Amino acid sequence: MARAHKVILAYSGGVDTSVCIPYLKQEWGVSEVITLAADLGQGDELEPIRQKALDSGASISLVQNVQEEFIRDYAFPSIQANALYENRYPLATALARPLIAKILVEAAQEYGADAVAHGCTGKGNDQVRFDVSIAALNPKLKVLAPAREWGMSREETIAYGEKYGIPAPVKKSSPYSIDRNILGRSIEAGILEDAWQEPPEEIFDFTKAIKDTPDTPQYLELSFDGGIPVAIDGENLAPVTLIERLNTIVGNHGVGRIDMIENRLVGIKSREIYESPALVALIQAHRDLESLTLPKEVTQYKLGIESTYAQLVYNGLWYSPLRSALDGFVQATQERVTGTVRLKLFKGTAQIVGRKSPYSLYNEELATYTSADQFDHKAAEGFIYIWGLPTRVWSQIRTHEH
Ligand code: ARG
Repeated sequence: MARAHKVILAYSGGVDTSVCIPYLKQEWGVSEVITLAADLGQGDELEPIRQKALDSGASISLVQNVQEEFIRDYAFPSIQANALYENRYPLATALARPLIAKILVEAAQEYGADAVAHGCTGKGNDQVRFDVSIAALNPKLKVLAPAREWGMSREETIAYGEKYGIPAPVKKSSPYSIDRNILGRSIEAGILEDAWQEPPEEIFDFTKAIKDTPDTPQYLELSFDGGIPVAIDGENLAPVTLIERLNTIVGNHGVGRIDMIENRLVGIKSREIYESPALVALIQAHRDLESLTLPKEVTQYKLGIESTYAQLVYNGLWYSPLRSALDGFVQATQERVTGTVRLKLFKGTAQIVGRKSPYSLYNEELATYTSADQFDHKAAEGFIYIWGLPTRVWSQIRTHEH
């Protein structure tokens, strides 16, 4: 029996997703495959990809540019949440999946498809993010994942494709598995699987090697309005342009590389290399502006929210009641996160060297050690008496016991 009749397949142009097309039709009895390639700023040429899907047997090949939505509705909320998985990974890949799921579900609706499909294998996080996001948006839709079931090796996959007119990759395929979009690159496999091996310079693209970065520091001003990045060096920029420009400026100084062993949702530890210059700089600057504009209790409470937020994005729960609830909290904190942060980029580092805001809570007259000091020193004594009371009582009892 056919697994589905009409399928919308998430398409990247690579071997696996191309082979999915004949596989769905031949092995799973699907009568029509419509492909959908999301343009997330991965830098590929999309016209050849669109054509390749048709050559591989797709009835319709869709390409959708969703870069602006990606930045505005996925990256910006995540920056406002300072979301870093396990304190380091700024989630470039993870954030793209719910958006791809969304446009797949929309296309299924528009074209009357009874299933959507993706080319993920059974070992990674991305299959979870797709399946769960699709289920959240339309629980009636079937999700097919041929590569999770077909059990073919790389060579077998290529051979299968060739039978159906899908050419083997021309250049010797890279030993690495790379996911790329406008927010960054995620690189794994090849010699990187040896966690002791230093990543070879050739894997990087968004960030320069330290030996090639400028020998003089560059100052960079990042401005936010209500927690949203709006300007670079005083120039207001639309979301996509802002991210692109920042990737270039920050990457040029070798900033934004991350080499980490991370805990995947499926329980495997994996070694992943990331480069996400714009996101790394924006989260760092945003966090600093919050430290200037948010009250103490909010800053400190938000830290816990941030790590939960990052975990949830990583674990495929973008469309979840918890994310809405956490976003409610985050949004409520952002109104006054407006101002500018000054960074100094130099040889792989982005140091924050200044910040200002019309809503700054930093009060120089309270903080100063000069004669301008307005802080009531005498008040400290009574405060410490009460603050230290439990400790004093505890200590007295303990002293009596000995
Ligand atoms: N580990 C990252 C994540 O789960 C990236 C996954 C894709 N990485 C890759 N090299 N293909 O979001």
